[in-house]
Amino acid sequence: MKPSKIILPSRISSLKQLNRLLNSVAYKGRRYFILTDENTGVHCLPRLITEVEAFQESEFLEIESGEQNKSLEIAAELWQALEEMGADRQSVLVNLGGGVVSDLGGFVAAGYKRGISYINIPTSLIGMIDAGVGGKTGVNLGGLKNQVGFFHFPEVVCIEPVFLETLSAKDWTSGVCEMLKTFMVADAQMYASLVDTLKSDHPVMDNEMIKAAVHIKDGIVKADAYDTGIRKMLNYGHTVGHAVESFSMAHDAEPLSHGQAVGIGLIAETFISSKKMGFPGERLEELKELVSAMVPMPKYEMKDMEELLGYMLADKKNHDGNINCTLLGDLGETVVDNIVTEVDLCEALMMLGKIGRA
Ligand SMILES: NC(=O)c1ccc[n+]([C@@H]2O[C@H](COP(=O)([O-])OP(=O)(O)OC[C@H]3O[C@@H](n4cnc5c(N)ncnc54)[C@H](O)[C@@H]3O)[C@@H](O)[C@H]2O)c1
Ligand SMILES: [Zn+2]
Repeated sequence: MKPSKIILPSRISSLKQLNRLLNSVAYKGRRYFILTDENTGVHCLPRLITEVEAFQESEFLEIESGEQNKSLEIAAELWQALEEMGADRQSVLVNLGGGVVSDLGGFVAAGYKRGISYINIPTSLIGMIDAGVGGKTGVNLGGLKNQVGFFHFPEVVCIEPVFLETLSAKDWTSGVCEMLKTFMVADAQMYASLVDTLKSDHPVMDNEMIKAAVHIKDGIVKADAYDTGIRKMLNYGHTVGHAVESFSMAHDAEPLSHGQAVGIGLIAETFISSKKMGFPGERLEELKELVSAMVPMPKYEMKDMEELLGYMLADKKNHDGNINCTLLGDLGETVVDNIVTEVDLCEALMMLGKIGRA
């Protein structure tokens, strides 16, 4: 694995740094194909093209927004479009968008002509602190999340927080949930700062918090790029979270976002952590309060359990038919590869519906 070059905001804006990099000799003569979705095409593309000269001669590809477009069908359409526009093995795909654009675009880059380079320019908070970094690409299949994918690492990741100005409140919340996860598993101090920020009357996310989350993710990826060891700690909240997300996509007119589902998964898996690993009860209560103030809690019935457990059993993290989960003894005390029983999971899922009720 060749490590990605990560551009972070400093005294010089990230887009200016990217402009300099792409004007350097190493990048001369490359052709760029910029992938956006319908929102980032409007809110982010004009600024990108104005500030990065190398992109002024680019070709453009656009998908509709939404998780349902992270699919093999859309990937095939993009491969076809790249072929028709004459993209060759030296071409570079530029993913300008949230996690859907970077997961799908990375997947398309990994497969096109057996692999072309790509650059991620994440525009959502989830994209910046998680999805855009680390080379996991993929699409959903048959209602199951990320079932088909490749490890294919971006050549450059450019984190430019100015793009967050147009993000919706729901997508902010999603990013905050994923950030809570990152700090819960790896940095108790940053977790405390994020909790303080969220509890304040006018929460403002500063660049230092974003940078800290990116450093954590990048450090873990460098230590275990192919997810065989410590990288699994970043799956915290995701065994339940992915099942909650798939269930919502199958049943709700307005499905939960990935990050909202992760917020719910964090509560469920912290509940199990408190029972099995002694995770402090008062921190669990604080997490419940914080997340339930931002994300609607699902009220499941017993008849829903079979479907939810089915999604968890199909999860890539499992082996030998057991459901595997990352758990926490406390903030920063992560234990990967715990087998969790169906009884524990059902109890955690049913508990969600009682949060906030007397
Ligand atoms: N590969 C990984 O390591 C990894 C990690 C975390 C999440 N993910 C994946 O990422 C996806 C979730 O990411 P997401 O929440 O960014 O989803 P997303 O890409 O669907 O973005 C959410 C919404 O925000 C809009 N948007 C994005 N940037 C915007 C901007 N600057 N201004 C206005 N609107 C903007 C998008 O159009 C979309 O409607 C899921 O598919 C998840 O599985 C992958
Ligand atoms: Zn996630």
